[in-house]
Amino acid sequence: MNRNHRKEVDRRRTFGIISHPDAGKTTLTEKLLLFGGAIQMAGAVKARKAARHATSDWMAMEQERGISVTSSVMKFNYRDYEINLLDTPGHQDFSEDTYRVLTAVDSALMVIDSAKGVETQTQKLMEVCRMRNTPIMTFINKLDREGREPLDLLADIEETLQVECAPLSWPIGMGKRFRGTYNLYRKQLCLFTAGQETRPQDLVVIEDLDDPRVDELLGSQGDQLREDIALLEGAANPFEPAEYLKGNQTPVFFGSAINNFGVQEMLDAFVEQAPPPRPAATTTREVSPYEEDFSGFVFKIQANMDPAHRDRIAFFRVCSGTFHRGMKVRHHRIGKDVNIANATIFMAQDRTNVEEAYPGDIIGIHNHGTIKIGDTFTDKEPLKFTGIPNFAPEHFRRVRLKNPLKSKQLEKGLLQLAEEGAVQLFRPLFNTDYILGAVGVLQFDVIMARLKTEYGVDAIYEGVEYATARWVECDDRKLLDDFEKKNQVNLARDAEGKLAYLASSEWRLGHTMEQWPGIVFHKTREHN
Ligand code: G4P
Repeated sequence: MNRNHRKEVDRRRTFGIISHPDAGKTTLTEKLLLFGGAIQMAGAVKARKAARHATSDWMAMEQERGISVTSSVMKFNYRDYEINLLDTPGHQDFSEDTYRVLTAVDSALMVIDSAKGVETQTQKLMEVCRMRNTPIMTFINKLDREGREPLDLLADIEETLQVECAPLSWPIGMGKRFRGTYNLYRKQLCLFTAGQETRPQDLVVIEDLDDPRVDELLGSQGDQLREDIALLEGAANPFEPAEYLKGNQTPVFFGSAINNFGVQEMLDAFVEQAPPPRPAATTTREVSPYEEDFSGFVFKIQANMDPAHRDRIAFFRVCSGTFHRGMKVRHHRIGKDVNIANATIFMAQDRTNVEEAYPGDIIGIHNHGTIKIGDTFTDKEPLKFTGIPNFAPEHFRRVRLKNPLKSKQLEKGLLQLAEEGAVQLFRPLFNTDYILGAVGVLQFDVIMARLKTEYGVDAIYEGVEYATARWVECDDRKLLDDFEKKNQVNLARDAEGKLAYLASSEWRLGHTMEQWPGIVFHKTREHN
């Protein structure tokens, strides 16, 4: 195989950040981009966050579309590595896309607020990572503030997320007494000066913690550090790269993103330890990134709200081979060859005229609604990538038309938007309602706006009593018939005709699952 191709694969790191709002994702992203020299991009990330906070109006947000598309994939170079950071929308715009982005990464970075520990959104995102055994590195943030005890935080992560922690750095104090961290990975003492970014002279290489310089630098906190490290050696798990790569163990760093403290330590360990593009599963076989034939899949679709341009951008992850601008590939679901000339190739800042993309890279393909989530493109072998599913919705609305004469348009619009992956559509078995399901409530605003601009449909939402959904399956036809008969009120078919059980609460769902042990309830559903 081509040596250059192997080199390009091996130096790529494609990842996303999982965190709860306000843990420091934006701040950390900005610092990471600055290390990569992506100064403009760092500014854009902050601006986008400000816009998100200012309004929950999706249309207004999307008027900043330039920012929104470019910051969906942030590419930067660090040392010899080429890094693709995929945005995981997390505030009002938390949605199924946030989950789906995680199907296109090779690893994730988890940011935790040291005062809060593991929070709900992180827990949800971690579930998605677990489905794919995604390796996760952890950054415990805001050590410059009073927070929870470090050991307590590790215990929280281990218990709540069921993943072993291996600290690679250890904090020296916190809040006003925060003096820095001891980097266990490099055996370096990193000293913190409040209100300042870390400078090279703040790093002291300490081969032996008994070195008197520790006391000179840290005073009485030196002994505390020795005690902590001795305790850790007995109690904490040593870092095992193989366990990290299997998703069983998370290496942990402590720091303060806003002070840019501990970020570079983590980034160094990240590029060295995080996996390069991983093999991807298809319905027929596993595809290695080192294969020369081109292949990849679509994991996210972004619509253009401008009614004059009904185009969409499909975010496509390259899984094998090399993408060349203008190359002809086969779009397998519709069985057509397409020429991808008009693609956005997300670029690192220091390169111009990038015409190629390698495994791990993301390209944006412009289209008019022909591409759907999960679609596979290859240049030779027909393949269908798996593991880019629909996720069980957590919010539901009933759609009511303002003008009953528009029911055809409504149906067409909802079906297309559901196929595109913007929302999930359910048709109950016992009536003709249109029930929409979403992972984040902003998805509903998006749908309403798009129904109006793209399909000329005026509709309103009504609340419904559903809170969760599962796709149901059963090989025993008779048992399934029986289940359908007894649970008709809660059953619906989704846009692809798959049977789903909609429940009014998690408790109700659990109860039904207990009553029907022969029925399989799925939290995700693969696309046809
Ligand atoms: P998010 O993307 O995860 O939602 O978090 P973001 O980076 O926006 O950070 C949330 C808040 O936490 C911000 O404050 C940010 O400045 C602050 N923050 C981030 N990292 C640290 C840290 O290491 N230490 C401390 N003390 N604070 C940190 P804000 O007041 O909401 O916004 P801003 O006005 O500072 O932008």
